[in-house]
Amino acid sequence: MKITVVGAGAVGASCAEYIAIKDFASEVVILDIKEGYAEGKAMDLMQTASLMGFDTKITGSTNDYAKTADSHIAVITSGIPRKPGMTREELIGINAGIVKTVSSNLLEHSPNVIIIVVSNPMDTMTYLVHKTTGIPKNRIIGMGGALDSARFKYRLAEAMEAPISDIDGMVIGGHSDTGMVPLTSHATRNSIRVSEFLSEERLQQVSDDTKVGGATLTKLLGTSAWYAPGAAVSSMVQAIACDQKKMFPCSTMLDGEYGLKDICIGVPVILGKDGIEKIIDIPLSDAEKAKMKESADGVSKTNGLLEL
Ligand SMILES: NC(=O)c1ccc[n+]([C@@H]2O[C@H](COP(=O)([O-])OP(=O)(O)OC[C@H]3O[C@@H](n4cnc5c(N)ncnc54)[C@H](O)[C@@H]3O)[C@@H](O)[C@H]2O)c1
Repeated sequence: MKITVVGAGAVGASCAEYIAIKDFASEVVILDIKEGYAEGKAMDLMQTASLMGFDTKITGSTNDYAKTADSHIAVITSGIPRKPGMTREELIGINAGIVKTVSSNLLEHSPNVIIIVVSNPMDTMTYLVHKTTGIPKNRIIGMGGALDSARFKYRLAEAMEAPISDIDGMVIGGHSDTGMVPLTSHATRNSIRVSEFLSEERLQQVSDDTKVGGATLTKLLGTSAWYAPGAAVSSMVQAIACDQKKMFPCSTMLDGEYGLKDICIGVPVILGKDGIEKIIDIPLSDAEKAKMKESADGVSKTNGLLEL
């Protein structure tokens, strides 16, 4: 199983590292436009192999897509991240051009590749890959909800002073500060609804902190986060590579599900060897439906900025 990660920056390198450490792929190719950068990251990571106990071969490439040929899965992390005070939507101008070129180059050398889009604004970049490549929708997956759900679980565990492994919960909707829809009514601690443990006000605080999870880290770090994004991508890659049929909220092209059409936005899906194998259309409360609609309106507005 060969996996390509485009962008050897913070998220790309972290994602390649987690994939290698989990040891399910035969090869990870990291590609970047910056001369020697991907080769350097690949060599550094390979020198952790004997220490961390993995056999995955990691190679680097400076913009040579021939080295990515016959990849099963490709992750697109190339593009600029936001700085403190910026929204993800402000990145569209530069990142749209990069994502379009990168996806076309990937498909030239790996026509059957499954593409995971990470670059922001992610839902719109996922939509762009649909509109510009024309490949089947099961092979285009946006990563946002897996990360946002991990941040939601972190905040719930913190509020309940509980171990994170006790918590289950999901965030759907757009991957933006205002678009995320944390499903507080469905979240549980060992199958008991979290509302049994937390007041409505505290749950609202958890939800608000989750939505600005990325912005909080960007303020602290001076750039956007990479460990949790890398880990989220690696879990999705593993689910596809190992045909795990696991459920993640992912950005996918909707065709009537959740009352939405011609939009890529986060909803629960099953990930297996064919990429998105099923979209899970769960019933939402009226309040959640309204939030989802508002979120979709925001994503559509950003999609409208694309020059297709
Ligand atoms: N979807 C999510 O949940 C999520 C989470 C975190 C970050 N992000 C996004 O991921 C992207 C990457 O973030 P980062 O922190 O790794 O940034 P970074 O600046 O550390 O790395 C980006 C890399 O992309 C490379 N690059 C630029 N143009 C390229 C091209 N045409 N071909 C190949 N490589 C190219 C750069 O040289 C750089 O090394 C940003 O857009 C960020 O907003 C998304």
